Amino acid sequence: MKINNAIFVKSSPKWNLCPAPVLPEYAFIGRSNVGKSSFINMLTNNNKLAKISSTPGKTQLINHYLINKAWYLVDLPGYGYAKAAKTVRSQFSTMISDYIQNRSNLVYLCILIDSRLQPQQIDLDILYQIGEAAIPFLLIFTKIDKQSMTTTKENINVFLQKVAEYWEVLPPYFISSAVTKAGKEDFLLFLEKTNKCLIEN
Ligand code: GTP
Ligand code: MG
Repeated sequence: MKINNAIFVKSSPKWNLCPAPVLPEYAFIGRSNVGKSSFINMLTNNNKLAKISSTPGKTQLINHYLINKAWYLVDLPGYGYAKAAKTVRSQFSTMISDYIQNRSNLVYLCILIDSRLQPQQIDLDILYQIGEAAIPFLLIFTKIDKQSMTTTKENINVFLQKVAEYWEVLPPYFISSAVTKAGKEDFLLFLEKTNKCLIEN
């Protein structure tokens, strides 16, 4: 699939202020700095679409991007940003959990995981909450350009073993690098197939 049109629609502080839930949407969550905004820019070939920063905590609202005039990509604030004030942190988690639980047109919640790290408790906790709420999710392992493919695969296996402790069926998962654009075509193909299924059913 080609993305020929990507338009920023709005930033919302709450799920019920987001655009009307009439088009399918895919939202990206993950720890601050994991690469959510960079991933959206890579998919859309537009480095200026979502704001990127080397300082964690850049994305602070729910950002909707309309793709090919037919569906949304959604950039969410990161979680686990230790330096954010406690009140701000709890606002973020309420904002995110309300969005996840109430957004009726959410097709997949895409959870980004840093491929360089051993499983982080906060990611596993979030995964568990999402699973309990029966929300369809998938995993994207980011920043694979930072190490060898062997190390990436080892780290992914360790993470998936943790996931398998909770779920019998593993979620779809993808690798990505916003630097080399690895994983981009695979993910776009997945979106294309999923969108097609939605139209047919
Ligand atoms: P918040 O909005 O703060 O939650 O962060 P985010 O998850 O949106 O991360 P963002 O896309 O802003 O990227 C954070 C930093 O990681 C930036 O310096 C990016 O350039 C860098 N980065 C993101 N993806 C990759 C990647 O695949 N490879 C490398 N090497 N750097 C990346
Ligand atoms: Mg961001």
